[in-house]
Parts: sequence; structure tokens; C-alpha cells
Amino acid sequence: MESMEKVRELFPIVQNKVFLNHAAQSPLPRPVADAVHKYAEDSANFGFSSFDDDYGKALFARLIGAKKEEIALVENTGVGLNIAANVLRYPPGSKVVTTDLEYPSVVYPWLRKSLDVKVHYVKNVDGKILPEDVEKAVDDKTVAVVVSHVEYVNGFRNDLRVLSEIAHKHGAYLIVDAIQSAGAIKIDVKKDGVDFLATACYKWLLSPPGAGYLYVREELIENFEPPFVGWASVKQEVFETLDFWDIWSLKLAETASRFEVGSPSTISFVGAAAAMKMLLAFGIEKIEERILKLTDYLIGAVKNLGLRLQTPEERQHRSGIINFQIANPEEVVKHLRSHGIVVSARAHGIRVSPHFYNTEKEIDALVEALRKYG
Ligand SMILES: Cc1ncc(COP(=O)(O)O)c(C=O)c1O
Repeated sequence: MESMEKVRELFPIVQNKVFLNHAAQSPLPRPVADAVHKYAEDSANFGFSSFDDDYGKALFARLIGAKKEEIALVENTGVGLNIAANVLRYPPGSKVVTTDLEYPSVVYPWLRKSLDVKVHYVKNVDGKILPEDVEKAVDDKTVAVVVSHVEYVNGFRNDLRVLSEIAHKHGAYLIVDAIQSAGAIKIDVKKDGVDFLATACYKWLLSPPGAGYLYVREELIENFEPPFVGWASVKQEVFETLDFWDIWSLKLAETASRFEVGSPSTISFVGAAAAMKMLLAFGIEKIEERILKLTDYLIGAVKNLGLRLQTPEERQHRSGIINFQIANPEEVVKHLRSHGIVVSARAHGIRVSPHFYNTEKEIDALVEALRKYG
């Protein structure tokens, strides 16, 4: 990776704040802000230009080890998860298995009465989801295992390969919310046997809100009829060859585009493409290693302060999120913000989520402010 000084030149936020809150919504890096700005200016001056039709699908596919035909554009993670929930069928007595660490959007799509599916929550043990507990919960009535790759409260990273093996043994699908890992942690959907993966790009992928992707494993795409359809769901040749739309039949795309409905938020995807180009140029493995190094440092500092870590420490289960317990977390967050340090209050603690461009010095500033507050 280039020198940290050079890297930080790409992040104007560092001039103004110690920003350690990428698990919430990230500031835009300079190349992303520039791309969005240019697109807006060009649109103002010359009318909307047709941004690359791929909308960053090939870049996202590279990032997760998939093919671009397996990627659909979505507005956000919640939409992607709802598509997965609604293409599956639930015979009487069906269940889905999830965990008690999930963000609401991971679970709510399966709580709708009309799906008539039982949701089983695997309970965490000291902030960890144990594969043996998932194994006990999954049976032949299980239609899907639904988890976040990285849990939003404490940053616990699930082992997707182990989970997909458990799910597949029982004919169930593995559905993954990757919003807290994509852009920070290496993802390999093929190696890990993931069937569906949904993310938005406004956190670790450093993009504007409104851009997201849904991966559907190639072998599955044509098995599923999308829950919503529009012009974007059909083979584009339908229009290109006839020069008008065939409105008498529905010829769904054979790719994941069949899960798209209409016009995407082009300007958001312009930003997402610029961000992914930048992240891929740095290399996602290097980014992950840098984030883990920063969080090693943070863990050491938190322990020195005598605070209780709420994040499991094993490196293979770690991510960019560290949470430690503290009295009055909301008050502490307000105090830190008044000193230009941005973190979040979550689960009776403080959630700190540095990205690769943050520095040990910024972590020191956080620790110093906490020491003074305490
Ligand atoms: C794990 C997880 N899933 C989903 C979301 C929300 O995603 P979206 O707004 O893209 O639907 C969040 C936001 O904090 C999250 O942490």
C-alpha cells in the first residue's frame, strides 16, 4: 500500500474529524465525491449521460469472487434480503434459522405473517455464534440460514463456509447480509458456498446511499421468479431487437438482472463504482489486514483503560467493529463528538469502526478523550 500520508490525501474527512464510525455511514473519499460531482455537472450541462450500463456490477463481482451475471442492482441491503425472502417457498412447518445478534432488516422479512415461516434464533454465547448451536437448530424443515457476515453490534464475524455446509446438508440456502463486511473484509462467495448475499455501499464500501447489490448464485437464478418485475427484469434484447417493448409476454432475464425492476439511482452507482475501483486498487486483503491491525491496537488500548470488551477477540472472528462497555454511552458519544471524534453508542457500549485509512494516532486521540472523560 502507498504511504499512509498519500492514502489520507484521498480522505478529506481526516482534516476535520477523527472519524471512526464506518459501521454507520461513511464519508465520501475524494475520488468518489469527484465522480459524483462530475456526473452531476455533466448532467446539468449536457443532459444525463448513459453511465456505464454495468453500474459497477463487474467491480462488485470481483470484490466477492462472483460473476457479473450473478449480480443485481438494489437500493439497499433490506431490498436485497426481501427479494431473497420472497423468492423462496415455505411448505407448511418451514423454518429459517438466524441469530439473536442480527440487525432488524435481516430478520423482519421472515416475520411477515404471509410467509408463514417460523424464525428460530440461535443465541449468542459471549457475543459469539457457535457453529454447533447452528447445527442443532438446522433440520430438514429449514429453508434458509440467514445471517450477517459481520454482526453490527459487536463485529463478530461468522464463518460462512461452516454455515453453508450446515445449511446445504439439509437442503437449506445460506443468505448473507454483507453490509458490515463488504469493503473491509475479504469475501469469496464461491469458496464459502453463499447462495444469496445482499449489501448496500454506504458503509465500508465508501459510497453514497442508494447503491446496493444482490448476489444470487448462478445455478439458482432461473429457479426463482422475482417478487417484483418491470422493464429492467426482462432480457434487454427484447427491446433492442424489436425497438419496442413486448408487453404481451414476460421474458425474464437469465441473469440476476431479473430481480431488478426499474431505473437505478445512477448517481449513487457512479459513486459506488469509483469507490470500488479505489478499494480494489489498494487490494482488499491489504485493507483487511490494516483494519485488523488497527483494531488489535484499539483492543490493547481499551484493555489498558480497564474497560470490558464486548467483541470476541479471536482474529478470524473479528472485523472492523470493536465494542466495549461503558457507563452512559450516549453521553460519552456526545462528549467525543464535541471533540471531533465520531463513534456510536450500541448495546451499553461504544462501537468503534475504523477503516484502513485511520491511524494509530487517531485511536490514541479517542483513548485520550475517554481517559479524560472517565
Ligand atoms: C447488519 C446490517 N444490515 C442492514 C443494515 C441496513 O441496511 P440498508 O439500509 O442498506 O437496508 C445495517 C445498518 O446499520 C446493518 O448494520
